[in-house]
Amino acid sequence: MPAPASLADLIAHGPYQAYSYSYPHKQAYRRLDTPRPLAPLWAAEDRRALFAYLHIPFCTMRCGFCNLFAMARPDEDLVQRYVDALVRQMRVMDGVLGGRRFARLALGGGTPTYLSPAQLETLFTAAERHLGIALQATPSGIEASPETVTDERLAVCKAMGVDRVSLGIQSFAADEMRALARPQQNPVVVQAIERIRRAGFPVLNLDLIYGIEGQTRSSLLASIDSALAFAPEELYLYPLYVRGQTGLGKLALRRDSAPADSRLDLYAAARDHLRAAGYTQVSMRMFRAPHAPGDSGPAYCCQDDGMVGLGAGARSYTRGLHYSGAYAVERSATRDIVQAYVEQDEAGFAQAAHGFELDAQEQRRRYAIQSLLTRPGLSHAAWRQRFGSDCLDDLPQLRELQPLGLAQDANGLLALTDRGLAYADTIGPWLVSARVRALMAEHGPAC
Ligand SMILES: C[S@@+](CC[C@H](N)C(=O)[O-])C[C@H]1O[C@@H](n2cnc3c(N)ncnc32)[C@H](O)[C@@H]1O
Ligand code: SF4
Repeated sequence: MPAPASLADLIAHGPYQAYSYSYPHKQAYRRLDTPRPLAPLWAAEDRRALFAYLHIPFCTMRCGFCNLFAMARPDEDLVQRYVDALVRQMRVMDGVLGGRRFARLALGGGTPTYLSPAQLETLFTAAERHLGIALQATPSGIEASPETVTDERLAVCKAMGVDRVSLGIQSFAADEMRALARPQQNPVVVQAIERIRRAGFPVLNLDLIYGIEGQTRSSLLASIDSALAFAPEELYLYPLYVRGQTGLGKLALRRDSAPADSRLDLYAAARDHLRAAGYTQVSMRMFRAPHAPGDSGPAYCCQDDGMVGLGAGARSYTRGLHYSGAYAVERSATRDIVQAYVEQDEAGFAQAAHGFELDAQEQRRRYAIQSLLTRPGLSHAAWRQRFGSDCLDDLPQLRELQPLGLAQDANGLLALTDRGLAYADTIGPWLVSARVRALMAEHGPAC
C-alpha cells in the first residue's frame, strides 16, 4: 500500500476508508521476536487509572455485516470454560499488575449478555476480587443484543454497579434487518429497552447503522425517532462497512454491481436530526443527549494507554507495546482461537507473544489520531506537556487539514470541523505511518 500523495487525494476517494478506533490497527500486530513478560512491562507504566476490558466472543447469531471477533451459538461447555479461563487470567493479572487502580471496566464483544446471570456474576466478582476494581465506585459498561436482555441478567449487572448498557439495534425497519442478515424482531427490541429502563441504569446507549441497502433518508430518520422515543443518553450511528469474510461481504462478491453509496447523505441528515433533538456530537459516530449524566468517575482518557484487555482477541495497550492474542473473523479460525484461549495456562497469560512496539513517533501518531477524531480535539498544551514539542512541528501533515476546511485551530485546540468529522474515517487512515501501512498491506485486505 503506497503512502497516499496528499489528504486532498484521499478525500476525493470518499469519506469511508476505515474506522480508526485504535492505532495501530491489529493487522499491524505481529508475533514478537521473543515473548515479553508482562510484569516488568506493566511495572514501568502509570497504573493510577487503568481500563479493564473483558471480551466475550459469543452471540446468539452471526450477523451478516459483523467482522468482530465473535462466534454464534457456542457449546455451553466452551462458554463455561471461557469464563473459567477469564477468571484465571484475572488472577494472573493481579500478580502482574502490582499496585494499581482501575478507572473503568467494560464488558464487550460479541455479546457479553449471552452469558448466564451466574456467569456474569462470576466475572464481576472476579474483577472485584482479583483486579481490585471497586465495582460500585467505578464506571462500568456492558454491551447487549436485544434477544439476550433478560430481567435476571440486568439484575446482576445493576447489583454489580454497571451504569452503562449499550444495545445493538441497527435499524427498526424489517426489510433493512433482512438486508443486514440479522434476525431481529421489533417487539423484542422494544421489550429489551423497556427492561433496561425499568432496571434504572443511568446510561442507555443505542447503536444504529446507516448505508443499509434499501435504507432511505426517511427510513433512517424514522429509526432514529424510534430510538429517541426512549430518550437514550447516547446514540451511536455506524456507517455500514461491508468487509470480506462477513456474510454480506461474500454476497457482494457474487453481485455484478455494487448499490449506490448513500452514506454521506444519510450521515448528514441523521447528524442534523440528532442535533435538532438537542444531542451533542462527540465524534463521527457518537452523539450524547443533554440529559446524559456527567462523568463522575476517575478520569480515563482514551488517548492515554493503560488498557488491560482480557479474553480471547482482546488488546492491551501500554505506552510502548500494544499486544493481544490472535484474531479471526471466520468461524473455524475463531473457534480454534477460543479453544486455545480456554486451554491457556498461567505462564501463557503472564506474557505477550503478539503485538506492536510503538516508538516515539508512533506514540505521537497514536495520540494525534485518538484526540483529533473526538471532540474537543487535539490540545496543543496537552501535546506539549506529553511530548515537549508542538503537534504541528512533530506531525507537519496535520497542517493539511485547515486549508481543506477539515479542521480549525483556535483556542489552543486543533479540532475537526463538521466537514472534518464527516471525513473522520479518511483522516484517521491518512495519519497512519508508512510502517504500519506496510504491515497492514502485508496482512491482506481489512476483514
Ligand atoms: C459488539 S456490537 C453490539 C452488541 C451486540 N453484539 C449487538 O450486536 O447487538 C457493536 C456494534 O458495532 C456495529 N458494527 C459492527 N460491525 C459493523 C459494520 N461492519 N458496519 C457498521 N457497523 C458495525 C453495530 O452497530 C454493533 O451494534
Ligand atoms: S453484531 Fe453483535 S450480535 Fe451480531 S455477530 Fe456482531 S457482535 Fe454478534
